[in-house]
Amino acid sequence: MSKIREDFLWGGAIAANQAEGAYNKDGRGLSTADIQPFIPDAKPTDLHFNDMDSITYEKYQQGDYYFPKRQGVHFYERYREYIDVLADMHVKTLRLSISWSRIFPNGDDTDPNEKGLAFYDELFKYMKEKNIEPIVTIFHYEMPLNLVEEYGGWTNSKLVEFFVKYGKTVLQRYHKMVKYWIIINQINLIHKEAFASLGILKDKVDHYEQAQFQAVHHQFVASAKITEFGHKLNSSLQLGVMLADTLTAPYSCKPDDVELNFRRNRMQYFYSDVLIRGDYPEYAMAYFKDKGIELKITEEEKKLLRDNTADFLAVSYYWSNTVKASENTMDPNSTVKNPHLKANRWGWSINASGLYLCMSQYWDRYHVPMMVAENGIGFKDVLTPDNQVHDDYRIEYHQEHIAALKEAIREGADIFAYCTWAPFDIISAGTAEMSKRYGFIYVDYDDKGNGSGQFHYKDSFYWYKQVIDSNGEEL
Ligand code: BG6
Repeated sequence: MSKIREDFLWGGAIAANQAEGAYNKDGRGLSTADIQPFIPDAKPTDLHFNDMDSITYEKYQQGDYYFPKRQGVHFYERYREYIDVLADMHVKTLRLSISWSRIFPNGDDTDPNEKGLAFYDELFKYMKEKNIEPIVTIFHYEMPLNLVEEYGGWTNSKLVEFFVKYGKTVLQRYHKMVKYWIIINQINLIHKEAFASLGILKDKVDHYEQAQFQAVHHQFVASAKITEFGHKLNSSLQLGVMLADTLTAPYSCKPDDVELNFRRNRMQYFYSDVLIRGDYPEYAMAYFKDKGIELKITEEEKKLLRDNTADFLAVSYYWSNTVKASENTMDPNSTVKNPHLKANRWGWSINASGLYLCMSQYWDRYHVPMMVAENGIGFKDVLTPDNQVHDDYRIEYHQEHIAALKEAIREGADIFAYCTWAPFDIISAGTAEMSKRYGFIYVDYDDKGNGSGQFHYKDSFYWYKQVIDSNGEEL
């Protein structure tokens, strides 16, 4: 029976585009995240985080909108204050991302932006001073807008060249300070985040799903090249692949539900099968044939993928869903709510056992070290007049999920880190709201970026600190 290791990395995760702000400071270029507007009470379908078309794209650029991610929570200017409060919570790690357009403002620039690089030098140095180990994501939902406009996003193989150049630049610069690297955030969400992850404008491609898979193939190749480079540069570096867990359960035990569920889940393993096992699996080739998807994959690329597999698997886990053959298809966006689960106001259903299941299943399949890269619950927290937040719901959520994680570890899964999303409140990725809060630390900004910016420790802050101090014993 295994226990949580002594050097377990307890911490939190954020992304540059949701926290840094300073969107036009020190030479940073505009990114895809900067054009996501705040739309009050928006339904997910209003936001085009996923199926962005060129008309909406133009509308956002021309319209009179507030763009929350341009300000974030001012992490760029205030990073020392944020690191200080995390140190006060005793976190061992902070997973964060580098903003691509801070380093290469247009994506295709000849030279990197030195001021952007200098920012992360300072940030990592300060984290080291505070004993917080960085886990760095190279690409998290933001790419230079120029790469969408001039090249059509990741469908274009030129993106491999640009991204590899960016990846090599940051590895070269920070490899002495950063050991753990996640190359691409949630690489499997191509059907849910085709704009944020792939930079595709839906009406600019002939076969949307083919474009999505071709684009992710380019991300696979870029990941393998960066992994190859990283290993040669410094053999102690760990370069990982990341999935958002989207494994579903069958709605019923009807054979049709069970079979659809199996086929759906297997196509979710596809991404890590390629990057951890190093091969395009037969079931995926059969799926492409059925869907009329023709991909350009060279023999040289296949060898590259075989020779440069990932060192670890990072998983984000939030919710779980079911599939029903009479209502759902192979489209990962089509699911049916599990009637046995409660959900938050955004419909994310809460199921701690899903974390035990997925980590155990990934372990059984791959046997590589793993980390929980994100786990948390969004809530409209209430700040009391005496600046308290009584967030028992968040404590309960994490209690149950950490217990599930411990069970997977007890049964042998090798897990080295648990990062909550997000340790302090930041802008939501999907809805661009500030009021969808995840943090243990309340950050006093509202949906329009107004507020004092003060930090207030929520009840969950003290709870998580005790979890960290007891290495997960006291939940
Ligand atoms: C993850 C993303 O899928 O979900 C994060 O990697 C995101 O960037 C998180 O913030 C929660 O989603 P949201 O839309 O509630 O912010």
